Parts: sequence; structure tokens; C-alpha cells
Amino acid sequence: MGNGKLVICDHPLIQHKLTFIRDERTTTKDFRELVDEVATLMAYEITRDIPLVTVTVKTPVAETESRVISGRMLGLVPILRAGLGMLDGVLKCLPAAKVGHIGLFRDPDTLQPVEYYTKLPTDVTERELIVIDPMLATGGSAIAAIDVLKKRGCTQIKMMNLIAAPEGVKAVHDAHPDVDIYVAAMDERLDEHGYIIPGLGDAGDRLYGTK
Ligand code: PRP
Ligand code: URA
Repeated sequence: MGNGKLVICDHPLIQHKLTFIRDERTTTKDFRELVDEVATLMAYEITRDIPLVTVTVKTPVAETESRVISGRMLGLVPILRAGLGMLDGVLKCLPAAKVGHIGLFRDPDTLQPVEYYTKLPTDVTERELIVIDPMLATGGSAIAAIDVLKKRGCTQIKMMNLIAAPEGVKAVHDAHPDVDIYVAAMDERLDEHGYIIPGLGDAGDRLYGTK
């Protein structure tokens, strides 16, 4: 069901860095830096369809027509807390974007998302939004975050994840067929605890050194 797009960002630089992100030997510091770098690289892919307009520009030697982004209003919505690990990397490409935060954690027993915080830009409904979270596992957190945004009246939403499980992609596309999903990798499956296999473990814990 649904016609949402799944885009796998398979650029060699992204895949190379993702290998080290997965590696259990990678330190918290390196993990954070790599996630930041991959987020920047993925931002190139996710903004590929931003429309351009032609303007006139004077170089030191001639006047010419050249293109700029057409004043698009963008918004980034990291899902706390792990989504914060990708935020600065995306902002490097989209420095004028406004940022909303949605706080959700997944109950370890029920695997259901629990919402604890939402703060969005006042003009959020006018913006094209990118929801950011490293992991798309059961899809519960992503669906809940998109629900929050749609209840506020947002209509243009994309999802950006480092790693997704097929179950999560299907769940998001079933619940929100209008949302395109951009991932660096689509993994095999979920384990009995809802962890992505092979995945990278717990993204929040690896970003912040918690357990
Ligand atoms: C992780 C991850 C997603 C969620 C994915 O967050 O960052 O938000 O799990 O799982 P789902 O697709 O099954 O909902 P977590 O709940 O561990 O919270 P944290 O970011 O605060 O560590
Ligand atoms: N959340 C994570 O951080 N990792 C997973 O594999 C699944 C959910």
C-alpha cells in the first residue's frame, strides 16, 4: 500500500562512513563525527529536487544568468534524542532552515513511542519538513512524529534515517503514504527486541556514551 518513495543514498562516501558507524569498536567521539558527516552527505541527496530559479549576476568580467534556490522554506525536525546527532550535519547544507524538536522514546517492553516534548517553529505549516532520526526500526517513533506534524497542519514531510528495517519502512508508508523516506542503508530485519539487524546498536547510547 502507499506510494511513498524509498531512496537509498548509496554514494560511496556514505557507505564507507556507515561501515565505521556500524563497527562496535568505533568510539563515541568518532561515532558522533561520522554520523554528522553522513548527515551532511545525505542532505545533498534529500535536497536534490529543490527547485531553482534563474537570476542575473555580474561577475567581474560579464553579466550572466545563473541559478539559486527559489526561496524555499525548509524545516528540520530531529526526533530526540538520537536525531540530534544528525541535525548539525544537515544544517551545514541548509543553514537557513528552522528547527523543530519532537521528543519521543520507545518503551523497551511495548516498543510503543512515548511522546515527551514538542516545540515547532510558529510557521511550521508553511515549511517543507525533513524529520531526522538515525534509526527506523518498527517505525512507531517515525509514525508518531509525523502524526504530531500532520495534526499541526503540516503537509510536506520527508523522512531521513541512517538505517531502516523493512518492517519500519512498510509501517511508515502504510500510515503515511505521502512521505518519502531517505536512508543510507536498508537492513535485513528486526530482532525480538525491535533492534535492527545488523544495524548499529542503540543510536542514542552510541552517540552520547550512555547505556
Ligand atoms: C531510537 C531511535 C528512534 C527509535 C526507532 O530512539 O532513535 O527514535 O528508537 O525505533 P522505532 O522505529 O521502533 O520506533 P530511542 O527510543 O532509543 O530514544 P533515544 O533517541 O532517546 O535514545
Ligand atoms: N533504536 C535504536 O537505537 N537502534 C535500533 O536498532 C532500533 C531502535
